[in-house]
Amino acid sequence: MGRFDEVYTFAMRDPAAFWAAAAEDIHWTRKWDRVLDETDAPYYRWFAGGELNTCYNAVDRHVEDGRGDQAALIYDSPVTGTVSQLSYRELQDAVARLAGALAARGVAKGDRVIIYMPMVPQAAIAMLACARLGAIHSVVFGGFAANELATRIDDARPKAILSASCGIEPARVVPYKPLVDAAIEMAVHKPDFCLILQRPQARAEMTAGRDEDWEAAMASAQPHDCVPVAATDPLYILYTSGTTGQPKGIVRDNGGHAVALKWSMKNIYDIDPGEVWWSASDVGWVVGHSYIVYAPLLHGATTVLYEGKPVGTPDAGAFWRVIAQHKVASLFTAPTAFRAIRQQDPDGKLIGDYDLSRFRVLFLAGERCDPDTLEWAEAQLKVPVIDHWWQTETGWSIAANCMGIEHLPVKPGSPTRAVPGWDLRVLDPDGKEVPPGTIGALVGRLPMPPGSSPTLWNARQRYFDAYLRRFPGYYETGDAGIVDADGYVHVMARTDDIINVAGHRLSTGAMEEVLAAHPDVAECAVIGVADSLKGQLPVGFLVLNAGADAGRDVAKEVVQMVRDRIGPVAAFKSAAVVKRLPKTRSGKILRATMRQIADGAEVRVPATIDDPAILDEIKETLAGIGYPKSS
Ligand code: COA
Ligand code: AMP
Repeated sequence: MGRFDEVYTFAMRDPAAFWAAAAEDIHWTRKWDRVLDETDAPYYRWFAGGELNTCYNAVDRHVEDGRGDQAALIYDSPVTGTVSQLSYRELQDAVARLAGALAARGVAKGDRVIIYMPMVPQAAIAMLACARLGAIHSVVFGGFAANELATRIDDARPKAILSASCGIEPARVVPYKPLVDAAIEMAVHKPDFCLILQRPQARAEMTAGRDEDWEAAMASAQPHDCVPVAATDPLYILYTSGTTGQPKGIVRDNGGHAVALKWSMKNIYDIDPGEVWWSASDVGWVVGHSYIVYAPLLHGATTVLYEGKPVGTPDAGAFWRVIAQHKVASLFTAPTAFRAIRQQDPDGKLIGDYDLSRFRVLFLAGERCDPDTLEWAEAQLKVPVIDHWWQTETGWSIAANCMGIEHLPVKPGSPTRAVPGWDLRVLDPDGKEVPPGTIGALVGRLPMPPGSSPTLWNARQRYFDAYLRRFPGYYETGDAGIVDADGYVHVMARTDDIINVAGHRLSTGAMEEVLAAHPDVAECAVIGVADSLKGQLPVGFLVLNAGADAGRDVAKEVVQMVRDRIGPVAAFKSAAVVKRLPKTRSGKILRATMRQIADGAEVRVPATIDDPAILDEIKETLAGIGYPKSS
């Protein structure tokens, strides 16, 4: 039996003993009573009775252990021309002060705090300051519009909002503060106060009595100590796309999260404390939560926080520059970033300009990794390229090549095998397991390992309905795929209406809700079509009301509506008016068939189609907006 099989088998045979051993690497202020609490199954809790502080484990303990002078965080921002770093001691000071500032304004254990920030160190400091107080942070990605922020304010009911005057995209400065103001205006719940980081690229107007200057608040704050919380208390809420416009508030606990993430740094990523690790994502996504902030810091590594893009800041050599300059051991990003680099530098010429001799492994996740991109990256970088599969809900990998345990052979197109702790199965629609190599619903036998979401914020029943109802005893990932005879997982498609645009998870259902709100739209459908750069892009189809104003460019208007209501990150730029939508006789819109036409794939027309002639019109319409793409 290989080393990986040994570890995997141990985790399957005795999960409590396996995770109790991993939990020894975390500092607890009170030891747990039960490693796995099954009393409320199918809602499972890890390390019940235990108490700890996540911020203490991520920051203070390293200062006490002699890492005070080591860089904790390197901030590299080509969009502002800044490179700076914070040692663990400096990070501790900043986090303790911000925690003090929040506490002085009434934030305490269990309170929620929304963080709507660009990729600046203060975003990580804000998350850790909340963790220090036992307050629950909810980071909202900066590319979301005011309306999305408002939805989250009303669901999380935060005491405070922490934000900055602006974010910086390569082509424009994005003022954040007007979005915060608009969101607070729209929301029913109002925060007690806002702390605003003023950036020189755009100063924010402050609302007297509600908004305070971040730096001034820090300057007058008293440092605050770490507050022990229950292992099962929430550390954060992270909203992610569900099947409707109402996002799901994924809850992460403190104990299981700290244990799993610390374990993953060595066992999956093969990083040692003191090494430099870079996750090129955004703190607004789960990858950013887990692998820009928490995991590398829990592990005593140095994390790079990069405010830039893979291309255009200034060129397709940006990633190689960062790796060389900061002596990065391993990088984690989304395949789309590599597709963008490859598009601009197909022969990898810019790689030669940098010393990448310390670079060991490239990890890719967030969307399906096409073998072409994986093989290109391998050939250019001459290091292992590791695809791994996970979700906001799970917080860390479901399937990966565990580089710190045993480097298994890579099969391009597969994120390798289920990681220790995940009992992954493939089920048919009746809930029966299918033979190896057969496609079905990818599900995890309960309980899921520590770190995975125990519930949804304020929506225990929705958690059950969304993930546990369909296949009793299993967690439904929402992904379909196969497990082959070697146990390798192949993730093929979502089973719901979620699409993945440049590694960003979006709901076509939520976009349809926006389109349907246009007064001239009678009916609509949004589908995700294949895109060679972003993986998928949304395309909308509109059927107009009989009396619709002929002079109005409704397609253009709905594009703007999605940008205004969901945000630029939706990348919704194509919509077309059609006379009718293809449907089954029972009235179900045939989105899959439309997608096949758009992708230039084999079109499997369902026998239940009401009127096949409509497909010709759809084909023509798609051709009119450039689909299928020729390459
Ligand atoms: N604040 C405000 N606006 C933002 C934003 C933010 N934090 N992040 C993105 N946007 C905007 C962009 O400016 C762009 O707006 P535009 O329509 O006016 O051009 C839109 O949202 C889409 O952004 P993005 O997805 O970044 O696309 P892009 O075309 O600018 O860049 C890539 C394409 C591939 C370079 C880019 O998507 C990328 O770097 N992806 C890396 C993957 C990644 O980080 N995934 C996260 C999960 S691991
Ligand atoms: P998110 O919750 O934003 O991390 O998105 C999770 C979804 O992204 C998964 O359910 C998958 O559909 C997709 N995904 C993430 N990583 C991979 C991967 N390595 N291979 C295929 N799909 C992936």
